[in-house]
Amino acid sequence: MVMSISDVEVFPVEVLEARAQINRQLDIYTRFDSQTLSGGQCPKRLQEAIRHSLLSDGKRLRPLLVMAATHVCGGDMGKALGAACAVEMIHTYSLIHDDLPAMDDDDLRRGKPTCHVRFDEATAILAGDALLANAFEIMARDTPQGVAAECCRMLATAAGPSHLVGGQVDDLACQFGASDLETLQSIHDRKTGALLSVSLQLGGLIAGGSPKMLSGLHEYGKNVGLAFQIIDDLLDLRGEVNQIGKRTGKDSEHGKLTYPSVIGVEASEQLAREKVASAISALQIFGSNGAPLVLFANFVVDRTR
Ligand code: IPE
Ligand code: IPE
Ligand code: MG
Ligand code: MG
Ligand code: MG
Repeated sequence: MVMSISDVEVFPVEVLEARAQINRQLDIYTRFDSQTLSGGQCPKRLQEAIRHSLLSDGKRLRPLLVMAATHVCGGDMGKALGAACAVEMIHTYSLIHDDLPAMDDDDLRRGKPTCHVRFDEATAILAGDALLANAFEIMARDTPQGVAAECCRMLATAAGPSHLVGGQVDDLACQFGASDLETLQSIHDRKTGALLSVSLQLGGLIAGGSPKMLSGLHEYGKNVGLAFQIIDDLLDLRGEVNQIGKRTGKDSEHGKLTYPSVIGVEASEQLAREKVASAISALQIFGSNGAPLVLFANFVVDRTR
């Protein structure tokens, strides 16, 4: 994976190491040989398409949040690695499908041609399907057994019809349509916030975090999730293609309902900063142990990619 100079400047070595560990494990999971997952019968082209999208230069924010939440709740981060990879697989599947011609019709993702451009539409749809199923196989198998079923349930809810998929449906339905703030927040909370938020809950659950810890993580996740998508909307307006690795100006082209289109650029920046401040104040229960999550919250609002 290409490491940009800014990553090295922003993140301490522990985070860079956790990310390297996540990348190594994603590579192992998608070798699809007899030692890893369900036999070695994945067709070569499907495997290439999966690895093209999954092993590319993603920020890995969601899996890092899984592991950071485990850490701040006093757990062993190694036990959260399977769950972390499962979440990244769901996220990558959602990006492959989000880029399809029937959805956002994008040709660039993570600095490379999108899956359907590099391969073909059918292969991209199927690569997404495979990642979605694979995520649950990994979660069920490689998460501590006492919490594996609950982790699968929580991830399925976040990825399902009322949350990620429902948010995506409303995102598409609102193109050149409704423009009220309530609808907008609901779309962002579901299409993006739900997966970020569940990442933290999974990490907390794996660590055996107390109800107070889980509720702090919930409050943090809700706020960081919304801030993250507000900044994504802003990056579509003024990001650098070379840095963000995807096209810009697409939201207005498609008439998307975004924060800058509804409340303007300055108010969007201000709101993202407010949400990040609320997220950070929800971390009080963790005292100084919450530092890694403070770092991620600040990254979310300051990011340029
Ligand atoms: C992009 O997510 C899609 C959204 C939900 C906004 P990321 O910005 O986390 O994308 P990667 O994983 O770093 O490519
Ligand atoms: C994508 O939102 C949300 C999901 C993939 C669930 P966007 O459509 O804004 O994401 P980008 O800008 O293409 O990464
Ligand atoms: Mg989209
Ligand atoms: Mg998109
Ligand atoms: Mg976007």
